[in-house]
Amino acid sequence: IIPKLYEAFSQSFDIGAAVNARTIQTQRELLAYHFNSVTPENEMKFESLHPLEDTYTFEKADEIASFAKTQGMKLRGHTLVWHNQTPDWLFQDAKGGTVDAKTLLARMKSHIDTVVSRYKDSIYAWDVVNEVIADEGTELLRQSKWLDIAGEGFIAKAFEYAHEADPNALLFYNDYNESHPAKREKIYTLVKGLVDRGVPINGVGLQAHWNITNPGLDDIRSAIELYASLGLQLQITEMDVSVFEHGDRRTDLTAPTEQMNELLTERYEQFFKLFREYEQHITAVTFWGAADDYTWLDYFPVRSRKNWPLLFDEQQQPKKAFWRVVEG
Ligand code: XIL
Repeated sequence: IIPKLYEAFSQSFDIGAAVNARTIQTQRELLAYHFNSVTPENEMKFESLHPLEDTYTFEKADEIASFAKTQGMKLRGHTLVWHNQTPDWLFQDAKGGTVDAKTLLARMKSHIDTVVSRYKDSIYAWDVVNEVIADEGTELLRQSKWLDIAGEGFIAKAFEYAHEADPNALLFYNDYNESHPAKREKIYTLVKGLVDRGVPINGVGLQAHWNITNPGLDDIRSAIELYASLGLQLQITEMDVSVFEHGDRRTDLTAPTEQMNELLTERYEQFFKLFREYEQHITAVTFWGAADDYTWLDYFPVRSRKNWPLLFDEQQQPKKAFWRVVEG
């Protein structure tokens, strides 16, 4: 008999998976058995929900919300303000030029109001702002249309609007490369600034798109400690562990090598040991997918290359890493 993943961590944190309109069918039993939380992979992004100024498309997002409800699972909302998967109309005026700051912020407010209010009774936590920190260089914030047009104030405003729409929702800042020494300092600086100014933010989301060698455990620990020192809760929001090291662009594998699997197992064991050490701060660990039959890493960063980054294999059966994690 296979132990339920979320039950192994019921004293520590929730266990979630990213899902989409297809995987709630193709992975239905697996999801229901092992996970007590879901995040829509794409269905609640701006371009999915609001492709034209006067058009909202809620069908797929609603399907996922109702799946979560039927299964008694929690639902995380992802994501309100991001530089990707955001439609062009948002940044354009009627003549196809660039919209002014006031209009952009009014559109942002209207989007946040509509979406957050709609899912008030089903979504308990939102990734309000996603990935605004710059990876490289000394600049704090990434170049984006949001920043160009509205200035840095759009970040605090997004949290304020979300809080007005649902005062009960937990509001997160979410980012990747979250353990990298320079980037984690920048994320800390941004979030500390928000907290100090009384902006309604409840947590930091660590995406945790990791691989079999990077980042190192010490960097992850340092990141967790730094973010925890803000007095906010932490969630691991998009975890996966690529079997390819950074820069490995091989496309010829049809299965992970023995060595890849060894490292994957070892790494997952270490990660969950570490998460348990910080269970006072970490309230959820969400994987970016459920089983290796579908992962976004089959398309990224190399277009068509299979990857095997999760705890369940292509047949949706537990991998060695699963057993190590539940038995740890
Ligand atoms: C990814 C999805 O998994 C893909 O299907 C889509 O094509 C691109 O976006 N950081 C995030 C997620 O915050 O929204 C991204 O999801 C993965 C990286």
